[in-house]
Amino acid sequence: MAELLIGQTLSFAGDPFAEGPAAARHSSRGGVLVEGGRIAAVGEADALRRAHPQARVTDYGGALISAGFIDAHVHYPQTAIIASWGKRLIDWLNSYTFPEEMRFSDPAYAAAIAARHLDLVLANGTTTVCTYCTIHPESVDAFFAAAQARGLRAYAGKTCMDRNAPEGLRDTAQSAHDDSRRLLEKWHGVDRLSYVITPRFSPTSTPEQLAMLGQLWREYPDCLMQTHLSEQVDEIAWVRELFPQARDYLDTYEAQGLLREGAVYGHAIHLTAREKARLAEAGASLVHCPTSNTFIGSGLFDMGLARQVRVGLATDTGGGSSFSMLRTMAAAYEVAQLRGEALHPAQLWWLATQGSARALRAEALIGNLAPGMEADLVVIDLASTPAIAQRAARAADLWEALFPTIMMGDDRAVRAVWVGGRPVPAGRETPGRDASRAGSPGAGTAGTG
Ligand code: GUN
Ligand code: ZN
Repeated sequence: MAELLIGQTLSFAGDPFAEGPAAARHSSRGGVLVEGGRIAAVGEADALRRAHPQARVTDYGGALISAGFIDAHVHYPQTAIIASWGKRLIDWLNSYTFPEEMRFSDPAYAAAIAARHLDLVLANGTTTVCTYCTIHPESVDAFFAAAQARGLRAYAGKTCMDRNAPEGLRDTAQSAHDDSRRLLEKWHGVDRLSYVITPRFSPTSTPEQLAMLGQLWREYPDCLMQTHLSEQVDEIAWVRELFPQARDYLDTYEAQGLLREGAVYGHAIHLTAREKARLAEAGASLVHCPTSNTFIGSGLFDMGLARQVRVGLATDTGGGSSFSMLRTMAAAYEVAQLRGEALHPAQLWWLATQGSARALRAEALIGNLAPGMEADLVVIDLASTPAIAQRAARAADLWEALFPTIMMGDDRAVRAVWVGGRPVPAGRETPGRDASRAGSPGAGTAGTG
């Protein structure tokens, strides 16, 4: 049966980084008609009601209906160690991340955290994530199974590391290639799932491993490839030592066939002029992870790049400090302010929806309200707390009404979430106690460093 959702609607007819806020389309009494998992029509509520009298109507009043958020770079295995205090990147990986990722050899633990992660992100209005798993193939199976059970469009890959990681968290060039290929064959294109070839980053892959993954990518050119690029200054110096022949960090990937359309680089903060030019020329994507970049002390992403390359937005949990794309938009705003640019709410909202979809080369499927697109939707309460409500009450237009929610909102602002044309049942998002008991509970990850 057709479903008609009524409320304020926000969509995009263009890129607000190119066209300004006029690229947005807003209706204060709009409607989204959903049929067969897809958006069948977007328009004025009254007209859609008249044209589709048989549709079941859900009226969200003054709440805002948007495409669901797309989180273009996360580490679902780091869900349980989010907000771990006091380290910079390499220390943080060694102290918190690697010990936690070690636990994902246990399929039951991986399944519990995958479920917890997806329920948390859904509760925050995020309907698609692109995630790193761990080196364990079981961690990929667990994630895809959990995403499939929820009907999500989702992106994931086995994280490959064959050096500079602890025993138990290393594969080899050959096993990374073979495991990645097997997982790709098993999951890529099944339902709404996509496999992503995933070398963690150059410091933890030998040139041989990067080359074998480059070879795999040539064999499966429609896959994405994700990795990290130029996140911290110390990390870049380490890459220089490890790859003395490379022109720069990007070249460590480029030399092995890991730079072209469909390459998705997280962070990309400290780029040289050559790297920026090559990224644009190659049609690669960058993902801005602002809460992570401030939390781990990495630096301030140059949002000017959004005018040259595809840029998406991401939480980067657990390096990021929030599961909320609202909080992430707020951090993107603050980071841009520190670089002298005030991002418009239209640009922030676009980054969290169409921008991320474009970074994942999925803009024809998700990330906007338009006929034919998959019906992954979030419904946002623009007065979700007293502080937000009193500010929004003064608003003269949509942007003034929306900005307090961007800056101060969290999962309390998420009134409803629809995935594949169906409402996500309320309460599903509550992380179960079962999840917290799964695997071997223990002290291992709670050190104060
Ligand atoms: N660089 C390599 N691995 C990681 C990771 O897990 N998180 C972040 N923020 N950066 C990384
Ligand atoms: Zn990351």
